[in-house]
Amino acid sequence: MENAVSVTELDRRSGIPGIAQILEGNGGLTKVRITSPASVGEMYLHGAHVTSWQPSGADEVFFVSSKSRWQDGIAIRGGVPICFPWFGDNRDDSKAPAHGFVRIKSWQLDAIALTEHAVTVSMSTGSDEGTKQWWPAEFRLLYRATFGIELSLELELHNASTAPLRFEEALHSYYRVGDVRTARLEGLDGVHYLDKTDAYRENVQQGDVVIAGETDRIYLNTPGAVEMQDLVLRRRIRVDKENSLTTVVWNPWADKARGMADLGDNGWTQFLCIETSDVLGSAVEVAPGQQHRMKAVIRVAGL
Ligand code: BG6
Repeated sequence: MENAVSVTELDRRSGIPGIAQILEGNGGLTKVRITSPASVGEMYLHGAHVTSWQPSGADEVFFVSSKSRWQDGIAIRGGVPICFPWFGDNRDDSKAPAHGFVRIKSWQLDAIALTEHAVTVSMSTGSDEGTKQWWPAEFRLLYRATFGIELSLELELHNASTAPLRFEEALHSYYRVGDVRTARLEGLDGVHYLDKTDAYRENVQQGDVVIAGETDRIYLNTPGAVEMQDLVLRRRIRVDKENSLTTVVWNPWADKARGMADLGDNGWTQFLCIETSDVLGSAVEVAPGQQHRMKAVIRVAGL
């Protein structure tokens, strides 16, 4: 359900004049718009979904599909969907939503804070009757997006259950590229990965990752940064991370994209997903009363 509090009331409570405004976005969904000297950006309460970030002096960093649907129960195609508490299809329940349930529901806007160089938007969600139909856990999930000359994304799970919780998580970021066929991803040379296009066969990356067909890979044991070079947009995007041990790299390529109604013609050429994550064997286990925080920091530089 979209937040019951009106947009005007949310803006009165949490907006910062000239810096952060809460307003109606696509599909009537509520969004926060940041307009600060360091960057402009947008984030929806639906899925706590960052859909735009443009640091000062740079172009838009994220791809959002012109065919995306914008409604409760459906994920936005582009930006940074949050996958939790499972990644991909639910292995125990084929009817459960792909990539978990938090990207398809409205979160609560907790606060917007202005610091000297950045604006932090804090949102949260948690267990309720709706989530328990899919996952019996008691939990709180906090998300802090800090829009500045860099973008910092922090996802924090609090286990409010009496038993340990095990979950997967991913910041499924769609980075905008001039042409994915000419993009190069550095930082994964020699890393083992599982190839989802080949029944999860294990391979070893040789050199940079280049996209020359459908690509759906889970790079294992990757606590460090990756960097994408885009010769068309003449820029580099660097993703640093904390408390994340897998990196998913995804692009559907032409054939699969044709079957995706929310992607549109040639949309697949315009993004590469690089996902700071903890999936499969790197699923996280958190003891009762404890928390886990995964973080990605994104920076852009010209070539
Ligand atoms: C990727 C998965 O992260 O997300 C792919 O590895 C999946 O297998 C893709 O196809 C898109 O998922 P969705 O549910 O947003 O269409």
